[in-house]
Amino acid sequence: MAIVRLEGITRQFGSATGKTAAAKFTGITEITFEVPDGQFWALVGPSGCGKSTILRTIAGLERATSGDLYIGDRCVNQVPARQRDVAMVFQNYALYPHMTVAENLAFGLQMRQVEAQKRQERIADVAKMLAIDHLLDRKPGQLSGGQQQRVALGRAIARQPQVFLLDEPLSNLDAQLRDDTRAELKHLHQQVGITTIYVTHDQVEAMTLADQIVVLDQGRIQQIGEPQTIYSRPASRMIATFLGSPPMNIMRSVYEGAAFQVYGQRLPCPETLQAKLQPIVGQSYDLGIRPEHLQLSAAPGHLQVDITVVEPLGREVLVRAKLPAETSAQAQEIAFQCRPDQCPRVGDRVFLTVELDQLFVFDVETGKTLGCVIN
Ligand SMILES: Nc1ncnc2c1ncn2[C@@H]1O[C@H](COP(=O)(O)OP(=O)(O)OP(=O)(O)O)[C@@H](O)[C@H]1O
Ligand SMILES: [Mg+2]
Repeated sequence: MAIVRLEGITRQFGSATGKTAAAKFTGITEITFEVPDGQFWALVGPSGCGKSTILRTIAGLERATSGDLYIGDRCVNQVPARQRDVAMVFQNYALYPHMTVAENLAFGLQMRQVEAQKRQERIADVAKMLAIDHLLDRKPGQLSGGQQQRVALGRAIARQPQVFLLDEPLSNLDAQLRDDTRAELKHLHQQVGITTIYVTHDQVEAMTLADQIVVLDQGRIQQIGEPQTIYSRPASRMIATFLGSPPMNIMRSVYEGAAFQVYGQRLPCPETLQAKLQPIVGQSYDLGIRPEHLQLSAAPGHLQVDITVVEPLGREVLVRAKLPAETSAQAQEIAFQCRPDQCPRVGDRVFLTVELDQLFVFDVETGKTLGCVIN
């Protein structure tokens, strides 16, 4: 096991020789973080934000244009991939097509000269854990996407490296298997505690597995924090709307001093927020409120909305509505949840109560969080 430390890692792509006119493109910029020994960190962010590039750089498959990388107390800038003792699960599996599943699982162990008996035991354990023990004689081409993904995961787990780098390792599994494998991964990590960096699009995976989450956008770190902190105190609109399903509702509004004007409706501004916003009366803001902090109200509440879509989810109903506006193009969508027995019908006009102490205020231009009551 080992710490993994990135110090100002930047990776540029494109012609470095200048022979072609291709412009350089910066995939990741000044990435700095340290994963303590044995911790589980998740990298999240929209497609193309640089998650795989970071993992590939740690694995030694990409060379950083600048910055330093440490695994344990060793600077590995010049250390080739095979000597870094990291195991990576690739987004596209990267299994050896000519080898059987068993041979794929054994490959890393053979390279490290693990003795045959031990090799067999480890492969059997991992294959059982990932429910691929009946597939050991098949070749990757004879497997489904989800099965290939489990073999790729098994190959990394069997190696017992110093560091795991997992690039969306569960993305092709069906819902049940995904839940099971996620729980299994958590269990495995609790048992062996190998330092792990995990890339995912799935916020449930990030929230449930990670000690810390790193949120990325356009190649730069936006926020690092514990899952609950990232969720409840997002540093920007982008983070607020990225984590959470359905995402935080965002409503354009004008601050009037003691209240926000939201599409012709008035929403009182909590006093603690007023203090933060005082210098900027009359300006536009983006207001944020999570769906779980809106409630249907029998009496006139804070906001009046028109129901547009009703999605029963079993235990609860996800309701989508619009704040009435002069033209339908201006109408603002808003989502909230309610109990099935309270569910309104499409076309109904209803009142919502807003938990005012859960409001967020974002800068319209930069998206930065300007204030929330809990901070
Ligand atoms: N070899 C390359 N040459 C040029 N650009 C590249 C190369 N590899 C990656 N990029 C660019 O760098 C950026 C980051 O790519 P990366 O694969 O790290 O994104 P990602 O966050 O893993 O996205 P996804 O969620 O879609 O897998 C993207 O804009 C991508 O097009
Ligand atoms: Mg990727």
